[in-house]
Amino acid sequence: VGAAEKVSRSGKPAVVAHRGASGDRPEHTLAAYELALAQGADGLECDVRLTADHELVCVHDRTVDRTSNGSGIVSEMTLAQLRELDFGSWHSAGDPASILTLRELLTLTLDWRRPVRLFIETKHPVRFGSLVEQKLLEILHEFGVATPPSADHSRAVVISFSSAGVWRIRRHAPMLPTILLGDTARVLGGSAATAVGATGIGPSVVSLRQYPDLVDRAAAAGRVTYCWTVDELVDVQLCADLGVRWLATNHPARVRDWLVTV
Ligand code: G3P
Ligand code: CA
Repeated sequence: VGAAEKVSRSGKPAVVAHRGASGDRPEHTLAAYELALAQGADGLECDVRLTADHELVCVHDRTVDRTSNGSGIVSEMTLAQLRELDFGSWHSAGDPASILTLRELLTLTLDWRRPVRLFIETKHPVRFGSLVEQKLLEILHEFGVATPPSADHSRAVVISFSSAGVWRIRRHAPMLPTILLGDTARVLGGSAATAVGATGIGPSVVSLRQYPDLVDRAAAAGRVTYCWTVDELVDVQLCADLGVRWLATNHPARVRDWLVTV
């Protein structure tokens, strides 16, 4: 660790480990997040979904088929059923691993020896009415991070492709920072973020290459830009040049090294 753990450079993008250090470890596992923290990531990204018994777990896909040794739809399985599965061994560099709950990942993040932010992506929250946001806010309150003094000081950031999902978070926890993800004209142009009160926009790196002025336009409206998923040197350079605030990458160690030189 040591030298790898440098303080985030002001003026350069901060590095968010996308699903953990998912280029080197199975995504969304404790091993992936611990490696990202050891590599000096400024933030961690996770996707959350509701289980049948209304727990929030960290998993990207609608089903467990790709990332575990089981099969089935996450929202139709209980946490106990999910805990029986191995979410690590499918990966070439993976050991057997249990599913992570949001609570477990928050504990890891908040207990780390330096301040790290958790970017929590709500996946398809409208399928469940407002239950995902209710559960999420319940957990953030439980951990004492739902009412930060300001967006800058928040340890949790809620991100989503769902404008309804972002709006519900803003309504119930106005101090929490939120990023509206997406590549539509309304998201990239900022009008969708204005409509729901998001504090930032989250374009893909493909959109950033195509519309580089979107970062300045967001900044002029008081919004930060969070860009995903940035794994190439040329794109890291672009993010640094444009003033992207957060970049999400599957390779935090490599990107942090690149950021020293760009
Ligand atoms: O960080 C945002 C990014 O994760 C969105 O895409 O499919 O990887 O969740 P996805
Ligand atoms: Ca995600």
